[in-house]
Amino acid sequence: MALTMQGPIGVFDSGIGGLTVVREIFNQLPNETVTFFGDTARLPYGPKSSETVIQFSRQNAQLLLSRGVRSIVVACNTASAVALPTLERECPVPVVGVIVPGAEAALRETRTGRIGVVGTRGTIASRAYDNYLAAQRADIFVRGVPCPLLVPLAEEGWTDHPVTERVVGEYIAPLLAEKIDTLILGCTHYPVLKKTIQKVVGPDVVLIDNAVETAALLCENLAPADPTETAGPIHRFMVSDVPHRFQEEAELFLGRPIGSIEQITLEELEAILGGP
Ligand code: DGL
Repeated sequence: MALTMQGPIGVFDSGIGGLTVVREIFNQLPNETVTFFGDTARLPYGPKSSETVIQFSRQNAQLLLSRGVRSIVVACNTASAVALPTLERECPVPVVGVIVPGAEAALRETRTGRIGVVGTRGTIASRAYDNYLAAQRADIFVRGVPCPLLVPLAEEGWTDHPVTERVVGEYIAPLLAEKIDTLILGCTHYPVLKKTIQKVVGPDVVLIDNAVETAALLCENLAPADPTETAGPIHRFMVSDVPHRFQEEAELFLGRPIGSIEQITLEELEAILGGP
């Protein structure tokens, strides 16, 4: 993956979960500029059909390209699971999803070859993790479980709450029964629930945080920012809606105040790919 040196790193998500990936990019690539788009008006992507998620993802990618990004990070597992091949074909810049970095980390970490995946209905139904892992190693056992209630619990800020612990316990019980030793957090909302999830699975199960792994992959492959761009990182945050409690939720996922945000209307987004 060779990335050119001009322009910011573009990142998009269905909403604000992708800010966990931005947070890791800030940690691991502090000199890089990020342009983020969260499709907050059309979230969640998890329960939607692949066709709809692909169409939304194409519009989001074109929006970022129109802002001059030099690469696109698909900071949404659902969009990465179903739209990556289309985006790779259509975009003139490198496109990085969150599935492969997470799956590769799981392959590195597992001792027993028994891997669990939690994610949205869309991600689990796509079998993107299962297919990738099986293609790398025939002896790997993979079991995925959709956990749709975890997204609203994370957004509500119930990161360390008995209700969240109970819900995680219900979802994860079948994976523990399968004696997994590694669990991929296959949704960009889940890193904020890591502490509770770790408590439920116990210390012997390794959690894979795709945000950390995706930023690490970028770190390895990204040519450094153009040194003539001396202004320092000026990050840009765009959303398609500014929901109630947006600043508060965004801060939870980003780990710092988000600052000013720009709203992109649905009309603008839908016009991006032109009419039929
Ligand atoms: N960001 C999405 C993901 O990682 C979760 C939220 C949604 O369903 O849109 O799959």
